[in-house]
Amino acid sequence: MRRKVIAGNWKMNMLPNEAMACIEELAKLVKDTNHEVILCVPYTDLFYSLLTAQGTNIKIGAQNMHYEESGAYTGEVSANMLKCIGVEYVIIGHSERRQYFAETDETVNKKIKTALKHELKPIVCVGETLPQKEAGKAVEVITTQTRLALEGLEKEQVKKVIIAYEPIWAIGTGKTATAEDANNSIREIRNEVAKNFSEEIAREVIIQYGGSVKAQNSKELFTMSDIDGGLVGGASLNAEEFGKIVNYDK
Ligand code: 13P
Repeated sequence: MRRKVIAGNWKMNMLPNEAMACIEELAKLVKDTNHEVILCVPYTDLFYSLLTAQGTNIKIGAQNMHYEESGAYTGEVSANMLKCIGVEYVIIGHSERRQYFAETDETVNKKIKTALKHELKPIVCVGETLPQKEAGKAVEVITTQTRLALEGLEKEQVKKVIIAYEPIWAIGTGKTATAEDANNSIREIRNEVAKNFSEEIAREVIIQYGGSVKAQNSKELFTMSDIDGGLVGGASLNAEEFGKIVNYDK
């Protein structure tokens, strides 16, 4: 049985005092869950968040990193920098980074390899735009993104990767994919993993859904056969709402 992994992506929100208050409140709400709970916070909140989350079942992640080990990359943060302060997860290739910061399938692939080398668990985002969906190209887009993201990884490494299927038209729009559509897209991604690695790896790899997940729709989504939890944007900024999403099965 695959576990459910429910991650918040705070994007460019939350000052340290807000981060600490939110984590303190959330910790009480999710202390009895069996699911993995992660908050991916801005760099400036990492240290405060890690301290506040100590002794709780909330794990802390970053939202990006550079693929190089170190050097003259002004403004960038390395995998080692994240790992050494206790960060466990890192989002790689979010559609907002692909769209606004020129991330490509190639840089995504390099970042995943560097993250794994430093024992950070990557949460890799794939997803189609509305024009791609309307042109009937969604499956081709998401399977290609998946193949290129994981290219050159060892089978054992693929098991450590979390994939987040986030249709771009559903992000921040209030439009959620139907549970059936999200499940079918995730099954296509899983088949692509089987094709490139093995059936066994495909059965084990965690694949989340992201895009306007809320307390109201989390149960319907997360109880589908292939959806292993979610990557939650806006609704993760509120501890009570995110707590309800995590506790969808209570
Ligand atoms: P929303 O949940 O705000 O739609 O954002 C989804 C997302 O981009 C998570 O990474």
